[in-house]
Amino acid sequence: MSASKKDYKRVTTKSLIEMKADGEKISMLTAYDFSMAKIVDAAGVDVILVGDSASNVMAGHETTLPITLDQMIYHASSVVRAISRSLVVVDLPFGSYQSDAKEALRSAIRIMKESGGHAVKLEGGSEVKDSIKKILNAGIPVMGHLGLTPQSIYKFGTYTVRAKEEEEADKLMKDAKLLEKLGCFAIVIEKVPAHLAEKVAKSISIPVIGIGAGGGVDGQVLVIHDMLGMNNEFSPRFLRRYLSLYEEMTTAIGQYVNDVKSSDFPNEKEQY
Ligand code: KIV
Repeated sequence: MSASKKDYKRVTTKSLIEMKADGEKISMLTAYDFSMAKIVDAAGVDVILVGDSASNVMAGHETTLPITLDQMIYHASSVVRAISRSLVVVDLPFGSYQSDAKEALRSAIRIMKESGGHAVKLEGGSEVKDSIKKILNAGIPVMGHLGLTPQSIYKFGTYTVRAKEEEEADKLMKDAKLLEKLGCFAIVIEKVPAHLAEKVAKSISIPVIGIGAGGGVDGQVLVIHDMLGMNNEFSPRFLRRYLSLYEEMTTAIGQYVNDVKSSDFPNEKEQY
């Protein structure tokens, strides 16, 4: 069920670089559990991101900061058991890579060994360069994440669009080039002006995957709960909702409650 130009039986980090070179857009969605990952993989999504957004959508935290490395490994291992084609990228959570490069490597190794994920993602540019180098030197593929980096929300203060001013836009461009030079295989760019994201994508050879970064980049990522409409409280401009599952599910569950209360369920055919 895939709209790929080439038939990738298994998507690898190399396939993504090839897709960019061929002008084929990359599809990426989050998943955090076995059942959802099975559906996402079967639908032909190239990359499954076990995002630290699990902290928000799975655990109900206000930010991505509280989720732990153990919890990320639990989510990622459930996802890995479900997939047969997609590349699985796992977020390094807040506090697992910022203090020093050795700790970053230890955290990345735990993710790869204990979850079976195929690559890690971490937030930031020059500030985390030593951590990125150390992880890459161990043979672990790294995806970068620039622009709005939710693990730094208390530094930014808000979730508004980043890099509107020249100074921040210049830093973002420099960081993207640095991540490419270090050997990252792709970069997520979140919530920046579309013209800037497009300029970055055209300036580097590795794929830029955008969220709220316009259509001029090499691929798109969304949080699955948002695009399926499971959450009816979050409506940023960049979000396209493909279903209204919040309404559909509450209606279905309400119907079940009525059927139980009225003794309509189970009927004669639904019992032994
Ligand atoms: O954690 C996450 O879901 C992410 C995406 C928003 C890119 O990092």
